[in-house]
Amino acid sequence: MLARSPDLARLADFHRVRGPDDTFNSNSKKNMKKEILKILPEIRKIKDQKLREKVISTWEEGIRFGGWDMEDLKKVPFTLLIADSRVNLIEHTRAVTNTALRVAEVVSRAYGNSVKIDKDVLIAGGVLHDVGKLLEYAKVKGKITKSIKGKFLRHPFSGSALAYKCGVPDEVIHLIAAHSHEGDQGFRSIEAIIIHHADFINFEVLGGKT
Ligand SMILES: [Fe+2]
Repeated sequence: MLARSPDLARLADFHRVRGPDDTFNSNSKKNMKKEILKILPEIRKIKDQKLREKVISTWEEGIRFGGWDMEDLKKVPFTLLIADSRVNLIEHTRAVTNTALRVAEVVSRAYGNSVKIDKDVLIAGGVLHDVGKLLEYAKVKGKITKSIKGKFLRHPFSGSALAYKCGVPDEVIHLIAAHSHEGDQGFRSIEAIIIHHADFINFEVLGGKT
């Protein structure tokens, strides 16, 4: 085997650390982050900057790992359980987050300190609750359908895994994990109760059956 010269090794290291691909990747990463903030402006309402970044990273990871591009997101339905639903995943995610925020306002005003709601957790959970659908669904011959992965792991599981990988705190992952029927038999935090009901309101008003 040929020994690599120190110069070649340095060149290879240079390209590994700062090569053209990485420059491209960091530019496309910045663009993707901007796009995510544009389509999900509720993320900006999260006060904790680190949490905000982790929420964005989780969406980035879901888009990349699911093999989607930003344009696809407008076509991903929020559910496959309502035939011909025209509501996409982004519209649903925003509606659930905003419904949850309104509920939080009302209960906080009505009950004061008796109900303690962490707004950052609530918003992050609202924005992330269905991110796992990026793995549960797949585009096959131009049609969006259940993915093979999705047959084994519904979105509360795949979404939790994505969020865990991106360092999202447990109290937010709990909202992803417990927002749907998977969470019916166990503990739900106050924020998880709100997201669960906000999600089902936005599912049932559009004809979804539980
Ligand atoms: Fe949902």
